[in-house]
Amino acid sequence: MDATTADRSTPVAEAAPAVPWWRHAVVYQVYLRSFADADGDGIGDIAGLRARLPWISDLGADAVWVNPWYRSPMVDGGYDVADYRDIDPRFGTLDDVRSLLADAHALGLRVIADIVPNHTSAEHPWFREALAAEPGSAARARYLFRDGRGPGGDEPPNNWLSIFGGRAWTRAPRTGDRPAQWYEHLFDPRQPDLDWASTEVREAFEAILRFWFDLGIDGFRIDVAQGLVKADGLPDVPPGVGPWVGGLSHPYWGQDGVHGIYRSWRRIADGYPGDRVLIGEVAPTEDDRHARRARFVRPDELHQVFNFDLLAAAWDVDAVATAIEAPLAANASVGAPVTWVLGNHDTPRQVTRYGRASTAAPSREEQARSHPTDVALGTRRARAAALLLLALPGCAYLYAGEELGLPDMDDLPDHVIDDPVWRRSGFTIRGRDGCRVPLPWSGDAPPFGFSPPGVGTWLPQPAAWAGLTAAGQEHDALSMLALYRAALRLRRAHPGLAGERLLRVPAPDGVLALERDAGLRCLVNIAGEPVAIPAGSRVLLRSDTGAADGDPLPRDAAAWLEPAP
Ligand code: BGC
Repeated sequence: MDATTADRSTPVAEAAPAVPWWRHAVVYQVYLRSFADADGDGIGDIAGLRARLPWISDLGADAVWVNPWYRSPMVDGGYDVADYRDIDPRFGTLDDVRSLLADAHALGLRVIADIVPNHTSAEHPWFREALAAEPGSAARARYLFRDGRGPGGDEPPNNWLSIFGGRAWTRAPRTGDRPAQWYEHLFDPRQPDLDWASTEVREAFEAILRFWFDLGIDGFRIDVAQGLVKADGLPDVPPGVGPWVGGLSHPYWGQDGVHGIYRSWRRIADGYPGDRVLIGEVAPTEDDRHARRARFVRPDELHQVFNFDLLAAAWDVDAVATAIEAPLAANASVGAPVTWVLGNHDTPRQVTRYGRASTAAPSREEQARSHPTDVALGTRRARAAALLLLALPGCAYLYAGEELGLPDMDDLPDHVIDDPVWRRSGFTIRGRDGCRVPLPWSGDAPPFGFSPPGVGTWLPQPAAWAGLTAAGQEHDALSMLALYRAALRLRRAHPGLAGERLLRVPAPDGVLALERDAGLRCLVNIAGEPVAIPAGSRVLLRSDTGAADGDPLPRDAAAWLEPAP
């Protein structure tokens, strides 16, 4: 990393009063189905989350992002919405949300909802109406219905593939005299894509945003944010280009027209008091992805986009340094902070990923095979990575359970797998359920306080999690939980971590050394020889358990240092 490009020095004393909360927040992601079950049906719910808000606040988060909670047939864990203004009965009611917001706000926590604008559920009244309507009708114009190619329209309208496997087109039942049409879906066939050229669609979503903002929601994470607008004429994807991986411009990722949507959403958010935020799930994979992402966070568009570079990067100094440097430089060009993410509900947890031979996020092909995992190694690296993540300027996203050091559950029995990827891939890719197993809160055996005793959880928990419960880690100074709490406390209180400045400073081979304000340093030994703690430094926190402050920092460990007084 070039020290000069990374140095976006902003003196803390000048910046602090004007800095909006979201530029440096810690956001805790709650996959609702797997967080805490209050009503005893084995599925997490809003009342369960509400009861644990003090725990999240004590951890040191500023905000909670809750994965979709809307009425849904749950084909894709709620990313298939049948009613955007109501809560799924499995999760609770709108009144539960009101209570959640009241409690969260009383604790100083903000609540970010997840909006799913690219597609609805096939159970949404609009789609039911569209299926029953004639080709060319207004009801069909809200979605992407097209005539097929070839004799009788039997071939799909273009070559697009679904991200979950198979074609991105499904043939609708025939209505009227014409051959049956096809409808487009980037994900599961039960998640039909909306047509954002439709004014009705645009207005409906603006009204949905207002509905939730009026209720008191502090912001939205926008699902598949780069995919809403499809290229005119729905042209074929160029040969050799996959549904997700780019390299060339895609007819559905990051089309120019998408930016106008977010400009109007930004105006809506800005019309409400209290710094409401919009966070886009924008995940381009092209080499120019940083510049592409930065376009979404120009001053009049989204507040943040997810930056998945660290989540994707191998445990390797150059890969990690690039994953930090490139987004910082790109976002600095538009004055936006960077978000940092190591895990989420779509990707293997850190302990698992860093404990495998290949430590980069697995490709689709790699996901089809099982991989041996060294959990102890993965845990050491996950601890070091947590100190790296929380030392970076900008907004950190934590995926619930990472603070407990949970690994993925790789050996879920086939019959419990719920992820649509499993079926769509012809039962070759087990999908994302391994990182979605319900959290272990307390006790010695499943359901570990997630549900009342005796209740089977929607995905089974491994018995081995008895050593990883929140209650068990509570008073263990060497636990992952203790490390996260200590780091989050320092991140809040230490002036050296308050600004937006980051500098890479020289370090031995295999070691990454980053400097924040007032000389505060984060040293991460990724692949080097044990490195001496520099003279004149005081250790604030180290990731390696049981080490004395002055011990050399071994491989797979990190430390926060400040100049000794
Ligand atoms: C979400 C996934 C979901 C997909 C389709 C993604 O970005 O994070 O969990 O399956 O969108 O909605």
